[in-house]
Formats: sequence, structure tokens, C-alpha cells
Amino acid sequence: MSVTSKKFDNQVAIVTGASSGLGKACAIHLGSLGAKVVVNYRSGKEEAEETVKEIKQRGGDGLAVQADVSKEQDILNLFKKTLDTFGRLDILVSNAGMQVDAPFLDMTLEQWQRVIDVNLTGQFLCCREASKIFIRQGREMAAEEKSQNAIGKIVMMSSVHDIIPWAGHVNYAASKGGLLMFMKSIAQELAPYKIRINAVSPGAIKTPINKEVWSDEEKYKELLELIPYQRIGTPEDVAKAVAWLASDESDYIHGDTLYIDGGMTLYPAFSDNG
Ligand code: NAI
Ligand code: BGC
Repeated sequence: MSVTSKKFDNQVAIVTGASSGLGKACAIHLGSLGAKVVVNYRSGKEEAEETVKEIKQRGGDGLAVQADVSKEQDILNLFKKTLDTFGRLDILVSNAGMQVDAPFLDMTLEQWQRVIDVNLTGQFLCCREASKIFIRQGREMAAEEKSQNAIGKIVMMSSVHDIIPWAGHVNYAASKGGLLMFMKSIAQELAPYKIRINAVSPGAIKTPINKEVWSDEEKYKELLELIPYQRIGTPEDVAKAVAWLASDESDYIHGDTLYIDGGMTLYPAFSDNG
């Protein structure tokens, strides 16, 4: 009998916000590479179950679990359910995020707070719980099981707006800018435990979050002027990079951000000599 091994066989991953867009693509890709995937969703139960179905169709395994990443008790339940079902955790793709756009002068405290709660505090809660589990698993590993490689991997979904300022979206840009330092600081603190932590920062990727832009011909044309590579990204462009960062192939990459943006961060306005 021939046995085909896959990159993430025997590994368990949680992907937050995985009922749509980038989270869904990451969950399906990790699942197709052998990981058992916990597909977290906030309200899209049917879509999350569809993600699990697609993982199973590709020969993987998964489970949809409801949790609002900004709520501590929800996150404790999400991680407990993961351990109760699959017995361990190896990868966290901390992806859930949202935009609530408003001009700065009109932005309400509620609009500011909601985005910070989901995009930044949600990352804090998920990364903290994942790290506790990784450390516990590391301590329980027999000496002969220990390798040079990481005992747990975290990939955070940031954005090019962790370095590109974004008028009209200051809550979002502040959350992603904050995420950059959060990522680097916990990477520094947790490296001795051999927990490997990185972020990906996508540019414009075709998902529900920016449908208003890519579904409008005029706005789409304007968007392309910001992308030297002259195409919008696909969720799969991001999912492949996330899987690589979660794999041992990138084991010496730690505390770093991979920009997946078709050159959006290259100051395209300067391309005709300013
Ligand atoms: P999306 O709107 O399809 O996905 C966001 C997901 O997060 C949704 O499934 C939503 O239900 C979930 N979510 C929102 N609040 C939540 C909460 N409180 N608890 C649990 N889940 C929650 O859009 P997309 O593009 O897939 O966004 C995913 C991540 O990618 C976000 O963090 C976003 O900031 C980031 N991103 C997206 C880019 C793009 O161009 N599409 C570019 C850069 C970053
Ligand atoms: C935003 C998208 C936007 C992209 C590039 C992302 O972080 O969520 O709406 O298209 O950045 O500006």
C-alpha cells in the first residue's frame, strides 16, 4: 500500500475568520496539505461549514467553531474545543479582521473601538492562548521527539496598512500598525520557547472586505494604479505564503513581515520619476 505524506500531516491548525476571503483560502490550503483545521467563524455558520466541506473533499479534516475573536470567553472556548476534538495545536493563522470606515472627524468612539477590539485585541487573545498550548506541548515532548524546528507557529494577518497610512480608515491603519509591534514584541519574548511568529501583509486582494472597490469599474481602474504588478491579488496568493511561513521550510524566519502586494509598497506614484 502506498502512503502519500503531506507537509502538515499530524498537525492541527486554527484559522480565525475562516468562513470567507483570506481565512477560508488559508484553511482550505492548510487542509489540503494535511493539517486538521479548526475553521473559526463569527456569524457565517453555513459558509464555515462549506469551508470544512471543501477541506474534506481535498482529503483533509476540519471543524467549524463559532467565536468572536474580541471576546475572551469565546476564545477560551475556541482553544478548548480544538484540544478536545483534535488533541493538540501546531499552527495559528490569526486572520479575522474588519474595516469600519469613516472620515476621522466623524469617526465615533464605537467605530474606533470595534476595529481595535477585533483587529488588535483579537490577535492578543488568540496569540496568548495558542502560545500557552505550544509551551505546554513543548514541555510534554520526549527528548527524542524534539527537533531543531519550532514547536508552534503563528502567522498573523496584517496589511500593507501597517506601513502605508490610510486616510478615512485611521482605526484600521492604527490596528494594523499596532499589530506590527505586537508581532515583533511577542516574537522577541517567545523565541526562547521555539514558538515562531511572523505576519503577512497583503495589498489589495479580491475578497468581500473590499468588494465595493473591485466591483466598481472606475474604482478598480484607480486601484490598479496603486499596484505596479497590475493585477489584484487572489486569496490563494496569500494562502500559499501563509502555508510556507507555517512550515518548517521557513524555520529560521522569525519576527518578520512578508508583504504580498504586487508592489503596492513600492511608492508607485514615483514610477514616472515623481
Ligand atoms: P473578509 O471580510 O472576507 O474576512 C474577514 C473575516 O473575519 C470574515 O470571515 C469575518 O466574519 C471575520 N471576522 C470579523 N470580525 C470577527 C470577529 N469579531 N470574530 C471572528 N471573526 C471575525 O475579508 P478578508 O479580506 O478575507 O480579510 C481577512 C483579513 O485580511 C483581515 O484581517 C483583513 O484586515 C486582512 N487583509 C485583507 C486584505 C484584502 O485586500 N482583502 C488586504 C490586507 C489585509
Ligand atoms: C484592506 C483592503 C485594501 C487593501 C489595500 C487591506 O488591508 O482591508 O480593503 O484593498 O488593504 O489598500
